[in-house]
Amino acid sequence: MATIVVEGGTRLEGKVRVSGAKNAALIAISAALLANGPVYLENVPRISDVLVMLSIVHDLGAGTEWESEDCVVIYPPDSPDFETPYEKVKQLRASNILLGPLLAKVGKAHIALPGGCNIGSRPMDLHIKGLGSLGAEISLQQGFIKAKANGLKGARIYLDFPSVGATENIMMAAVVAKGQTIIENAAKEPEIVDLANLLNAMGARVRGAGTDVIKVEGVAALSGVRYAIIPDRIEAGTFMVAAAATGGDVLVENVIPTHLEPVTAKLREANAEVIEQDDTIWVKSNKALRPIDIKTLPYPGFPTDMQSQMMAMLAVTPGTSIIVENVFENRMQVADELKRMGAKIKIQGRTAVIEGIPRLEGAQVRASDLRAGAALIVAGLLADGATEIDNVHYIDRGYENLEQKFRGIGARISRNE
Ligand code: UD1
Repeated sequence: MATIVVEGGTRLEGKVRVSGAKNAALIAISAALLANGPVYLENVPRISDVLVMLSIVHDLGAGTEWESEDCVVIYPPDSPDFETPYEKVKQLRASNILLGPLLAKVGKAHIALPGGCNIGSRPMDLHIKGLGSLGAEISLQQGFIKAKANGLKGARIYLDFPSVGATENIMMAAVVAKGQTIIENAAKEPEIVDLANLLNAMGARVRGAGTDVIKVEGVAALSGVRYAIIPDRIEAGTFMVAAAATGGDVLVENVIPTHLEPVTAKLREANAEVIEQDDTIWVKSNKALRPIDIKTLPYPGFPTDMQSQMMAMLAVTPGTSIIVENVFENRMQVADELKRMGAKIKIQGRTAVIEGIPRLEGAQVRASDLRAGAALIVAGLLADGATEIDNVHYIDRGYENLEQKFRGIGARISRNE
């Protein structure tokens, strides 16, 4: 099994370019099924989650091909197959975002239920409630979510929690439903806005994405389009934290600075200098870092996907920092691995209390999920000696050329196949 080895003690310096957003690309590939012509998606990262999603839509009958290094074309079938088996869903939990487009296009979707997950139970109730309000009948049978609809009809839907996936599924079903759909307490993540922009470019009528209330007027059909995906704010945030934590000086390129405001604000609070320009963010850190408190929340709050990387930084920040995880109930496993590297962290429920120590010690550690893997790379940079990270397939799910990019800004990092 491959491992990543990081030799600690380097200060990151230079420029690094961020790839297209994993979560925006996944949802765009799913949404492409709605079109009646080819959908050209640009700025798509070649990461394993994207490759799995492409293979799923291929299995459903879509043609897929890479037009260039980062542009993928999806040729949606007139009548896609509607069943996604467990074998695929277990590789990509986000397969559930196919529910909306399949219901809209063929009136039927059978998606295997993902099993237990490392970062919490991830229920589907809000997806089911939302799609049910649009007229779908949904049941759980033999490990599948089975949905069918004989024509979808617009409705007013209130989400008890602003779930990203549920908001996306409802939007994608509503774009071709009859009449108006109103989603209240909708998720406001940049990936939601990106999906709305893509759908509108395909001929949909979606307004209000990025606010609490999204209004969708159903249209008869959607057309093919060429569309560039937004940059990955979590990848950008990972480099920002790594730069700040190593006392570095790094220009992060291809970013939308507003998407990173919660991360920028926390790094500034921690005493790093963060300079936002048009499509770059420059992180300079030459003063001692200060402890901070973080609460993860739906956007525009601090992203849960950046929590682990911050924990690695705070492990070597003098003083006591506190992280409260409010989005996923079981997302603190990285603390156990950081403790193997000498970190002083106490976890109680959703709260981590971190007592900063001067340096971590290199150790053999294991990534428990994608962001934990990224956090362990950051921790490796902050450790004396070598850190060997196991389970690197999690990292490959969501980061494109991560080792090369880190090497480009001075990290000593390599992969053992
Ligand atoms: C998406 C992102 C993920 C990110 C998360 C939160 C993708 C592919 N993944 O995941 O990287 O960490 O947003 O920003 O885009 N919930 C329910 N019932 C539901 C649905 C969700 O209770 O029907 C709960 C979940 O258990 C979780 C919370 O809502 O506690 C957030 O989940 P959600 O926003 O749906 O995240 P995902 O769309 O799965």
